[in-house]
Amino acid sequence: MRTHYCTEVTEKNIGEVVTVAGWVNSRRDHGGIIFIDLRDKGGLVQLVADPQDSKEALEVAESVRDEFVLIATGKVRARGEGLENPNLVTGKIEIVLEKLVIENKSKPMPFDFNDEKVNDEIKLRNRFLELRSRKSYEIFKLRSKATIQVRNTLDELGFLDVETPILTKSTPEGARDYLVPSRVHPGEFYALPQSPQLFKQLLMVSGFDKYFQIAKCFRDEDLRADRQPEFTQIDVEMSFCNQEDVIKVAEKLIYDVFTACGKNVPSTFPRLTYVEAMEKYGSDKPDLRFDMPMVDVIDIFANSTNEIFADIAKDKAHNRIKAIKCPNGDNIFSKRQMKGFEDYVRKFGAKGLGYFQMKEDGLKGPLTKFFSESDLEEIVKATELEVGDVVFFGAGHKKVVWDYMGRFRLHLAEQMDIIPADKYEFLWVVDFPMFEVEDGRVKALHHPFTMPKDLNKENIEDIESIAYDIVLNGTELGGGSIRIHKEHIQSEVFSLMGISEEEAQEKFGFLLDALKYGAPSHGGFAMGLDRMIMLLAGTDSIRDVIAFPKTQKAQCLMTQAPSEVDGEQLKELSLRIRKIEQ
Ligand code: AMO
Repeated sequence: MRTHYCTEVTEKNIGEVVTVAGWVNSRRDHGGIIFIDLRDKGGLVQLVADPQDSKEALEVAESVRDEFVLIATGKVRARGEGLENPNLVTGKIEIVLEKLVIENKSKPMPFDFNDEKVNDEIKLRNRFLELRSRKSYEIFKLRSKATIQVRNTLDELGFLDVETPILTKSTPEGARDYLVPSRVHPGEFYALPQSPQLFKQLLMVSGFDKYFQIAKCFRDEDLRADRQPEFTQIDVEMSFCNQEDVIKVAEKLIYDVFTACGKNVPSTFPRLTYVEAMEKYGSDKPDLRFDMPMVDVIDIFANSTNEIFADIAKDKAHNRIKAIKCPNGDNIFSKRQMKGFEDYVRKFGAKGLGYFQMKEDGLKGPLTKFFSESDLEEIVKATELEVGDVVFFGAGHKKVVWDYMGRFRLHLAEQMDIIPADKYEFLWVVDFPMFEVEDGRVKALHHPFTMPKDLNKENIEDIESIAYDIVLNGTELGGGSIRIHKEHIQSEVFSLMGISEEEAQEKFGFLLDALKYGAPSHGGFAMGLDRMIMLLAGTDSIRDVIAFPKTQKAQCLMTQAPSEVDGEQLKELSLRIRKIEQ
């Protein structure tokens, strides 16, 4: 119907008759002459209804309201002097209406979709209206560009795009499954895939060599700002490869996608081992846009007169004493804020948070009286403390200290407002432990299909795996590993995890079988597409980058899903609902 999109009409069209189509962004009545800003996906153009040019068009324009859908035909002319709008691509021209058709009316908007402060519930209930905002359209344009680049790069590298099932059997990725009841097999359920992990491995056994998929995944887990129950992965697998080969593919992919989206990123990324990352930053996904590392000071306290610290320092295998220097902290934070920091770390298991500061006239602060002169001197040296700096201490079991001091490092940086928003700091974290023990139960840190380096270790938590994560600005963007391709290793891993042979057969029999039929060595990774777009778009909510997202409680407020179903449907599925008090 249109001859041009709104923003395509510029000075070069002056004198031409054009037809544009879109929504009324605003309408102004200047005593007999009506101005309408018409909006389409690209932006705005000004329409003018003047009785001198078309009485009919003016009559229609009088009945127009915000968000009405119009098809407008008219002659392009230059705006009068002083009436130009430098903020619009079309700011130098206007379209003088010859014909105006209202294609559809609109009720008044329930909220201003360009106002980001509007209550989330109203926005999500009317998501199709929120998506009319400029910001949303730009995000989805970016998402489309990134996705197309993913396909182009992987196609260029020889990867085959293969779809795997949605109605499937559970794949353990650490979350609860979404289940779908079977009508044909009463009492039985499909699970929606938490990832295509096992299918992509089977495709390697089939000899497909290089697979990828932009895959929908489903996980019933507690939701956060960067988690949705239904999300998308860029899923990749390849055969006859080692960790270096996989990392190279991932780096090229990220480089190509970010470059296509106009971002400057390096073509290779630095690496830290899991242990290095935990020791230095207290996190396996450290934000490297700022430094403030944790300094190991446990050795200083081996012979300390401070009994508590000396006692902790005795067991170096299990304990840590870490210091974080906060440059200029003494001038930034009040005593009350320092006290608040202690409350913050207590939430994560800390017993306290000691600190002292270097003033012009020496060291001051609650901890100084508990440390000897020589302890203090060594700490000053180890942390390179200068006048104005504050040093904070965490002491106790290593996992607890890593965790709360890592969180505290981030919290401090946020409070100090030193994290640059426009920087991309990528990092590979490699050599993850294969297992972690939680409440006496052995769990795979990544997933149980990851290749261990050496299973013969006295302490199961010392077994390393060939697993790697890609981290961007403190967010886990993706993860992957080299996989187990030998049946006996896979069986041994299941057995170490306390999975009986019977259970392994029942749950993963098809994988164990496949590994007996000439499975090649293989490995791969998956990146969260939604998280990648969040970071590219600079938004801090994953909901912004998903067209129709779910709430924190996994609901779609627009369609009202999940919802009850009628008795007939339940009967067909041989199901009856019995609500249990939680
Ligand atoms: P993993 O479980 O680490 O690995 O998932 C890979 C990436 O998917 C993204 N992601 C999510 N994004 C949004 N909402 C969620 N609920 C969510 N959960 C995960 C993250 C994460 O880094 N099969 C393995 C990959 C492999 O080994 O090849 C897997 O799924 O960005």
